[in-house]
Amino acid sequence: MRYKFLPSFVKRRGRITQSQEDNLKLLPNFLIESYEDICREKTNFSKLILEIGFGNGENIISLAQDNPDTLFIGSEVYLAGIGYLIGEIQDLGLVNIRINTGDIRLLIEQILLSPLRQI
Ligand SMILES: C[S@@+](CC[C@H](N)C(=O)[O-])C[C@H]1O[C@@H](n2cnc3c(N)ncnc32)[C@H](O)[C@@H]1O
Repeated sequence: MRYKFLPSFVKRRGRITQSQEDNLKLLPNFLIESYEDICREKTNFSKLILEIGFGNGENIISLAQDNPDTLFIGSEVYLAGIGYLIGEIQDLGLVNIRINTGDIRLLIEQILLSPLRQI
């Protein structure tokens, strides 16, 4: 089978705690899957920042706290990190973080191919 891109990550699952697993059930509330999702979510914010590979989310959490007028889209494939970030979003009451869980290159391609290309 041929893949669209060269591999840039090895595994998605790894070690995951029960609370991270529980947090992942809330993922649909934060999910960004398309260019249209980005346009819709961006309307209430003045700026948009994409962090590719947020790991456990320390950086994106800190930036989101300091910049409430900016929408942050965090991209990560590592499920434990995604679960951890969702827990922090909940605990800290952050409203300016959304999450993309796929290979970010697919979303970037959508943005580049979009007729508007302006977010
Ligand atoms: C070196 S780590 C960066 C971690 C984080 N930025 C930090 O400083 O703690 C790179 C991260 O990018 C993620 N990653 C790699 N390829 C990716 C892709 N194509 N799409 C989305 N995330 C990807 C990996 O899962 C990994 O967690």
